[in-house]
Amino acid sequence: MIEAAQRLQTVEEYYFSKKLREVRLLQANGKPIINLGIGSPDLQPPQKVISTLCESLKDESANQYQSYQGLPELREAMVSFYKEQFQVFLSPATEVLPLMGSKEGIMHISMAFLNPGDQVLIPNPGYPTYASVTKLLGAELVLYDLTEEQNWMPDLELLEKQDLSKVKIMWVNYPNMPTGAKATEGFFIRLVAFAKKHQILIVNDNPYSFILNDAPRSLLSIPGAKDVCLEMNSLSKTFNMSGWRVGMVLGKSDYINHIIKVKSNMDSGMFYGIQKGAIEALKCSKLWFVSLNNVYEERRKLVWELADSLNCTYDKGAAGLFVWAKTPAFLKSEEFVDLLLKEHDIFIAPGTIFGSQGEGYVRFSLCASTEVIEEAISRIK
Ligand SMILES: Cc1ncc(COP(=O)(O)O)c(C=O)c1O
Repeated sequence: MIEAAQRLQTVEEYYFSKKLREVRLLQANGKPIINLGIGSPDLQPPQKVISTLCESLKDESANQYQSYQGLPELREAMVSFYKEQFQVFLSPATEVLPLMGSKEGIMHISMAFLNPGDQVLIPNPGYPTYASVTKLLGAELVLYDLTEEQNWMPDLELLEKQDLSKVKIMWVNYPNMPTGAKATEGFFIRLVAFAKKHQILIVNDNPYSFILNDAPRSLLSIPGAKDVCLEMNSLSKTFNMSGWRVGMVLGKSDYINHIIKVKSNMDSGMFYGIQKGAIEALKCSKLWFVSLNNVYEERRKLVWELADSLNCTYDKGAAGLFVWAKTPAFLKSEEFVDLLLKEHDIFIAPGTIFGSQGEGYVRFSLCASTEVIEEAISRIK
């Protein structure tokens, strides 16, 4: 028997990978499971994106290896998107790198900057990949708490009371997943000052900026941010393209070059047709965002109704693809989720998969049709 590497002892199989197996088994046994657990958009990408992908297959170079840095037109489209949406000005030649989803970017950025023993500031609750990648690389996790009382923002003053000398990276994610909290400009300004003072690379993971958010914001729009910050974005949620695997990392060219050094040793460029489709997506007019958000708004109202009927409470001002809700006081997150699954065949995500600070909360996904959410409501009522 050949043993797995020791680093695998630092991580566990991803919660959804395990739990969805259980959910599928229940479905195979005839249970009519309603899945409001996962954030995989069920809506279609813009039609033009799909037709462009199909058309592009006829191009001569469609099946060849692609540039490690992506097609120049794709980088141009990404930078134009940032200019138009966030008034952030970047060089398409040196300050953006297409990624196969932002999830892989977490690994590439970590590999580019972390040495074993370096410390990494990670939000609790937060997207689990920040922690697992940090552990896989032998770096040290330093969790920072996000609390409802502080509007799910890090307490920078409290952090400064700690020894931050070994901290190399701080992951932030606004609009936040799972809580839906939105960062203010003032917070971003203080964050950049904090990063400069302590020489920490801040990476803002920003895939939810355009979902139910009336004020999309980029950390890179703060003066001086490029010296100490990177930002990732993704087409997964904004254009319903999670399966396409298209994301981007943006920032100062020196930092991007470090990431290219890692990435060019790992993959050989994104499939041509996907890049062509992504370019079309990034060119979408404001109408796209309006119609997308109309759908999510309608769904969210119903999910609020569902949460009400379960005696959960939530913040109506939150952004993103989920409703983050507090469970009734007597039930822990996982007990609540298991009960809902057992009694009503409804699956939602327990807050604890995002960290201990998620205890007492659950996450409802908006990636289900109004009919499905209505059915969930009627099962509870
Ligand atoms: C906070 C956060 N970051 C990154 C990702 C990964 O997105 P992508 O599809 O771009 O890899 C997700 C996906 O759910 C997410 O919630």
